[in-house]
Amino acid sequence: MCGIVGYTGYREAYPILIKGLHRLEYRGYDSAGTAIYDDKSRELNIYKAKGKVSDLEKAAMGHNHCGSLGIAHTRWATHGHPNETNAHPHVSETGQLTIVHNGIIENYIILRDQLKDKGYHFKSETDTEVLVQLIQYVMDSHNTDLVTSVRLALEKVIGAYAILVVDTKNPDTLVAARKSSPMVIGIGENNCEFFIASDASPIIEYTNRMVYLEDEQIAVCHRGEALQIIALDNSEVAVNVKKVNLDLSMLDKGGYPHFMLKEIHDQPQCIRDCMRGRIVQDGKRIVLSAVTEHREELLKAKRIIIVSCGTSWHAGLIGKLLIEQFCRIPVEVAYASEFRYSDPVIDSNDIVIAISQSGETADTLAAIQLASEHGALIFGIVNVVGSSIARASDTGTYIHVGPEIGVASTKAFTGQVTVLTMIALAVGRERGTVSEEKYSSLINELLTIPELMEKVLAQDEKIKLIAQQYATSHNMLYLGRAYNYPVALEGALKLKEISYIHAEGYPAAEMKHGPIALVDENMPVVFIATHHKLYEKILSNMQEVIARKGKVLAIVTEGDETIKGMAENIIEVPQVDNSLAPLLTVLPLQMLAYHVAVAKGLDVDQPRNLAKSVTVE
Ligand code: G6P
Repeated sequence: MCGIVGYTGYREAYPILIKGLHRLEYRGYDSAGTAIYDDKSRELNIYKAKGKVSDLEKAAMGHNHCGSLGIAHTRWATHGHPNETNAHPHVSETGQLTIVHNGIIENYIILRDQLKDKGYHFKSETDTEVLVQLIQYVMDSHNTDLVTSVRLALEKVIGAYAILVVDTKNPDTLVAARKSSPMVIGIGENNCEFFIASDASPIIEYTNRMVYLEDEQIAVCHRGEALQIIALDNSEVAVNVKKVNLDLSMLDKGGYPHFMLKEIHDQPQCIRDCMRGRIVQDGKRIVLSAVTEHREELLKAKRIIIVSCGTSWHAGLIGKLLIEQFCRIPVEVAYASEFRYSDPVIDSNDIVIAISQSGETADTLAAIQLASEHGALIFGIVNVVGSSIARASDTGTYIHVGPEIGVASTKAFTGQVTVLTMIALAVGRERGTVSEEKYSSLINELLTIPELMEKVLAQDEKIKLIAQQYATSHNMLYLGRAYNYPVALEGALKLKEISYIHAEGYPAAEMKHGPIALVDENMPVVFIATHHKLYEKILSNMQEVIARKGKVLAIVTEGDETIKGMAENIIEVPQVDNSLAPLLTVLPLQMLAYHVAVAKGLDVDQPRNLAKSVTVE
């Protein structure tokens, strides 16, 4: 979490940094700051503000922020409260060095105590201030230049970092370094300028030539000179420039009031993009290069383990049902954060699927690194091209749904489920565990999903009206079975994330073992009750709730007259095969959460305490 941006070149840095921070605000938004070196006055001007990037802009307004070298930061607090003092950039005691940092320095207390013993004083509660003081200490005591000082200081650091450091005595150079936190460097024409950021979105409008810094690498960005990269052991590293394609229009709201609403409505097109080039021969076959290349491993796989977090974990639960149904391979789904510390039993014949929108989630990355050490094949299902998880995977399939900016994930979820469906069908066909008939009919149905999604999304106004009834609720229950149980979890998560209403997702039949005690006239219960073999059973669960005065909102199959007579509110979705139902049933729940949050006047795209990319454990 936290977003960092840096620029050195010939243009004014401030507008580049501020625009970049806005693009990275999804990574954290409790405070922001910027430091720009004014070549004329030879001063480094630092502005900081508690709150969002717009608050920083207000704080800097009317002050000097001229200069063509600068660094900036938008924070998601880890160490220390979100206030101005703890906001980045942080400056060393002598004032010579200034830093922005994304990550966590785990041994900062020991390092801080050592520095205090040497007479250093600290203003903030942050681990970052310790790091800049440490670099300054190394510089002063070893009489080294900035790059060497950064390198020697980082040797003493345990933890994760993406840092940008400015030395006022050498103001043509920005030094960047990373370990376990992302960092991309954009190279301008003739190396005369460098754009550095936590992801490509602040850079893409200036250049598409980018270098993804790897772990334990340090980059020296000196305007007018070629980019130089060294490893922490001081060896020279070859600079690998990639051409990155990112559609700039995907980075704005496209006329919608919030990114989340835009991304909800983008889903039909996203799913078309996700299937493009993968469902071929006029819809007769699914071709995924990762499946073709690793056919042998997939054929002999005895077990698949899915690791992920948050919404991606819910997609993983659907993936388990799909793979078990169509491939008959046992699947375990683990929270990456638990998996990595559980001393897991991993076999070299296992396949580990990592699902991650950002491709940067620290726990998921660590989980696959562990699985890789045990010899498992790592298969990434990732959205952000070139991200850390994508690069750490042996193979994989991108979901290709475009940048997701709203903190509450929507289109990435349906993209992940679509990719998992294609994988399950492609592998199932190779293994002979899905009939040709089922394979063909599901592909045909999958191809109709975007159109059917449009039908569901057309009910937005109706759902907006329904949502008003729930805006004053304090609790809600979401119930579903089979493929719709993970959807219940996802619906509850969406509501919690952006409306701050406590919501629980549960398997409908399990309700009797606890949650039913919560049901009374103040407990809205959302049932995902589309037609499938357990439909009658879920009807009984609904009766049990109604008998206890619970208010039912049901997501039903089009034309369902039975539930119409029972539930207070119903939202219809078209009939599809059970295995594809989540792609439709999740949409009303996304819209419901969105409209409840808007009705409550909350900040939908930037909900409190959350961040989109969780790069700390
Ligand atoms: C954060 C985000 C969620 C996301 C989760 C996993 O909590 O707010 O929307 O589902 O991280 O992120 P990933 O990028 O790995 O899918």
